[in-house]
Amino acid sequence: MSFSFSNSSIENLKNQIDIVEVIGQVVQLKKAGSNFKGLCPFHNEKTPSFVVSESKQYFTCFGCSASGDVIEFVKRYYNLEFGEAVDKLAKDHGITMEHSASYDDNRKEYYEANKLAARFFYASFTQRANRGYAYMKNRGISPNILKKFGIGYADEKWDSLYEHLKSQGVDEKIMLETGLILQGKGKCYDRFRNRVIFPIINTSGKVIGFGGRAIDPEDNPKYLNSPESKVFQKKNNLYGLNIARQSAGREGYLILVEGYMDVISLYQSGVTNVAASLGTALTDNQAKLIHRYTKDVVLSYDADTAGRAAALRGIEILKGQDCRVRVLHVNDGKDPDEYIKKNGREAFLDLVSNALSYGDYKLESAKIGLDLKTEDGKIDYMKKALDMINRMSPVEQDIYKRKLSRELGISEVAMDMELSEERTEKGGNEAARRREPEQETTEEISSVERTLVKLFLTNESFISQLAEHRELLESDFSANIYDMAVKEREKNDIIDIELIMDNLSDKDRTTLKDIMDNVVIDKKSQDQVFRECIDRWKYEKLSKKERDIIVRLSMADENDNVDIVKQLTDELMKAQKEKNQIQLKLK
Ligand code: UTP
Ligand code: MN
Repeated sequence: MSFSFSNSSIENLKNQIDIVEVIGQVVQLKKAGSNFKGLCPFHNEKTPSFVVSESKQYFTCFGCSASGDVIEFVKRYYNLEFGEAVDKLAKDHGITMEHSASYDDNRKEYYEANKLAARFFYASFTQRANRGYAYMKNRGISPNILKKFGIGYADEKWDSLYEHLKSQGVDEKIMLETGLILQGKGKCYDRFRNRVIFPIINTSGKVIGFGGRAIDPEDNPKYLNSPESKVFQKKNNLYGLNIARQSAGREGYLILVEGYMDVISLYQSGVTNVAASLGTALTDNQAKLIHRYTKDVVLSYDADTAGRAAALRGIEILKGQDCRVRVLHVNDGKDPDEYIKKNGREAFLDLVSNALSYGDYKLESAKIGLDLKTEDGKIDYMKKALDMINRMSPVEQDIYKRKLSRELGISEVAMDMELSEERTEKGGNEAARRREPEQETTEEISSVERTLVKLFLTNESFISQLAEHRELLESDFSANIYDMAVKEREKNDIIDIELIMDNLSDKDRTTLKDIMDNVVIDKKSQDQVFRECIDRWKYEKLSKKERDIIVRLSMADENDNVDIVKQLTDELMKAQKEKNQIQLKLK
């Protein structure tokens, strides 16, 4: 079926529907002058910049560029095509639509052809004995899992699917464009023959393409995929995400693997938050898609060189889309499929909990091929590692330099010198911009913490006041100094800063000295400054909460979960209100 409507009936539809009412069902709108305002559902925002005009029957967002009429809204919000959006609006409002003769978009027909093909493959797989079923059974996949993934079989004949689709009235042009059928000399024939078929289904539940695994080892390629088409772009989709997205939301992370069989095998073992990147290197769009459902990703690529290289690239792509990344490689078998078959779910989940953070993973991979027992090996490793560290954020640089220094027993000062030499060799400019070690140490201590340290070291009354707000001292540095100060005071009544200094590492001593010299607080305003610190800290926490809720909101929207959306929106409003109150105090 294809949706196509006459222009006059679309105008008629829009006249009968109020955009404020339609959007108001999913976005909390508040009257603002002659318009309505709310939080934009198309981008993350803290303050409403999404405006709906009743008189113009138009929405627009000043934060992102989203704008349009009611059909455009429904299209974008529910991820529908134009015709589907019109159809939904008409149905929701009990309006009958006049259909026009011409099609404007035949994507529906592609999906339809793919669906018919998927059903045909599935029937061949399940209705009689066949080599595909035997193959999958031999690989240990149970009938209910095969069904869940809609696994099918393309038989050995040249034109089984072709004849079937023809009998179903599918246009030959569509068969060729989906790549299900190939044009031979004079006759059309099936792309997939004697293969196990993995339908690729997008997050809207549409069959967009297929992967076909060879059953005979001599058949090449091992996996044959649908060609790129109007409805199938590898770079925009992930295999299994249609199934994994819910549990990824629930578990809080998604596991990314290389292959179709990894997805299915993990799923069968009870690890259901898993998808595969369709045999290509991970793309920005795939990362964006993942980010819609979860921002935590565990890469679980094969243990071979290619898998390691893919993981290193994948890390960058995912970080680029604001995802947190961890990496694991199975240490038994060549891929997650083999591993979980041998070792089971618990063992695999252990690997997941021990997955390396992206920085640790990069350090680990810098070691490959080097003998760290030799001096040369150590130095090569240090250079490679520093090169990676240099591309990290300042805070990360600090963390990983410290790790590296500890691991190699080379002081950070020496590493910095090595680094500056490297840069001078490469052309002085960078070296000039290099941050001094002192600045580096102070950078990770927030200004709130710096102020608090100064306060409790200069005025003991803040030591007891801080006892109730220990969580404000987030860094090891300030927590450590606070503990020392508490002990000092128990013993001596007076805090001897020199004594504390003596017990610090060189680096921490420099930081503390910097704080004592440079954080200046007027004695009269100490109490006020202390309260401000607490407020600023709360403000940061609320901002973080706000960001979290917005991410969750965007996920809940996907599932049309009105109750949760409402509850989250309430929480969001509350957090924003508290934030605004604090902001007023801080001004
Ligand atoms: P692998 O070669 O690692 O296959 O390819 P696999 O997943 O372990 O498969 P089995 O276990 O032998 O059946 C990983 C992924 O790369 C893509 C497929 O998406 C595959 O799942 N690929 C691989 C292709 O597209 N074509 C190929 O010829 C091979
Ligand atoms: Mn495999």
